[in-house]
Amino acid sequence: MEKRTDFGSKIGAVLASAGSAVGLGNVWRFPTEVGNNGGAAFIFVYLLCIAVIGIPVMMSEFLIGRHTHTNTIHAFAKLAPGKWWRIEGIAGVFVAFMILSYYIVISGWTLFYLIQSVGGRLQADRDYSQVFTGFVSNPWMPILMGVIFMALTHVIIAKGVQSGIEKSSKLMMPLLLLIIGILVVCSFGMPGSREGLRFLLKPDFSKLTASVILSAVGQAFFSLSLAMGCLCTYASYFRQDTNLPKTAVGVSTIDTIVAILSGFIIFPAVFSVENVSVDAGPGLVFITLPSVFNIAFSHVPWLGYIFSGFFYLLLLLAALTSAMSLHESVTAYVLEAFHVSRKKAAIAVSVACMTLGVFCSLSFGVLGDVKLFGLNIFELFDFTASKIILPIGGIIICLFVGWYLDRKLVENELTNGGKLRFKLFRLYYFIIRYVAPLAIAAVFLRELLP
Ligand code: PHE
Repeated sequence: MEKRTDFGSKIGAVLASAGSAVGLGNVWRFPTEVGNNGGAAFIFVYLLCIAVIGIPVMMSEFLIGRHTHTNTIHAFAKLAPGKWWRIEGIAGVFVAFMILSYYIVISGWTLFYLIQSVGGRLQADRDYSQVFTGFVSNPWMPILMGVIFMALTHVIIAKGVQSGIEKSSKLMMPLLLLIIGILVVCSFGMPGSREGLRFLLKPDFSKLTASVILSAVGQAFFSLSLAMGCLCTYASYFRQDTNLPKTAVGVSTIDTIVAILSGFIIFPAVFSVENVSVDAGPGLVFITLPSVFNIAFSHVPWLGYIFSGFFYLLLLLAALTSAMSLHESVTAYVLEAFHVSRKKAAIAVSVACMTLGVFCSLSFGVLGDVKLFGLNIFELFDFTASKIILPIGGIIICLFVGWYLDRKLVENELTNGGKLRFKLFRLYYFIIRYVAPLAIAAVFLRELLP
């Protein structure tokens, strides 16, 4: 077995974790949720959720990973030998495996749209709803795209922690932030930018219902990659002098800024075009946006060309850095549990995920009628992972750190053995014991109960 490595630098650790957090959830899911839940008021609650629940739960995952320096399954087993808590480690790795299987499908679509857009194929006045349905229901093309995307992820993971994950994050994350900057500037020039900004910035608190609040908690968890073993695995590569609370705040800040800026990119464009609804749902990015880009930039087509090319590149980079963390969560376990080389472990994970991914992909076409509880394969994976295993996992992590682990151990880990000051420790501990588990339980019950 290879010797365990660390991230070589603190900035590498922050950028890799931020890469995990910044993903399709920020650029695609967040604007959709904002659109569905009434704009600025939702954003306000979302920010509160990140600060009050998201950051403390992230710190908890970090401390489990860094304290044990091993993969998520072994981490729980090490901290609670012979106890049932182990199940959370298993659930975390299992859910990462499941999510990766369908995450590569959407990531493959993103790759296809990037290729189309660079080839100038998104520049025409076409029926984009038909383009989308035609593409996803085709048995071959989406799978081919998924395979290419998986191969990219695989190559990075097989290279290892420092020369794979860390190096590529250091390259891709700044590039991603640069692209966002360019797109925000472009989108301020659009005719609908004022209205878009008003929608994003002027809260209408009458729109705040219980369901809006609960959607915000759910989005915060998904976006910060919590409860999937990813951040726990990454933290197992953190060095002993990494400041965990500060890193959690840094990662969450980057994630939140990217989500909000994605709103600034998408809504001015959407408001520039009449008859397009802001709550178009998941089709927003693949159906609505291509037509919106065309109409909004009809007077300067070359700008539309650049805008859409950069947009899909942004989406692809975001997806890739997140897929890397999902892959690593599983690979780290396989490699440490079965004592095989990293290359072999990564191949096993890539092939297994891709096999499941094929079924997820085909569920948009030939396997569309294969359903369980009224959900096709893709929807079933998404539902089981994000609506059932994730929330339960979140609650278990809070209870584990707040009630099972020794308080001294938790405090020691968050202050690096007393070397750092962490003034808000008592507040953190209170949140982890009471506030966070109750809030997550509320989301969970709301999602499951009719
Ligand atoms: N946080 C990622 C996003 O915003 C999604 C993700 C989930 C990534 C789980 C890794 C693990 O898209």
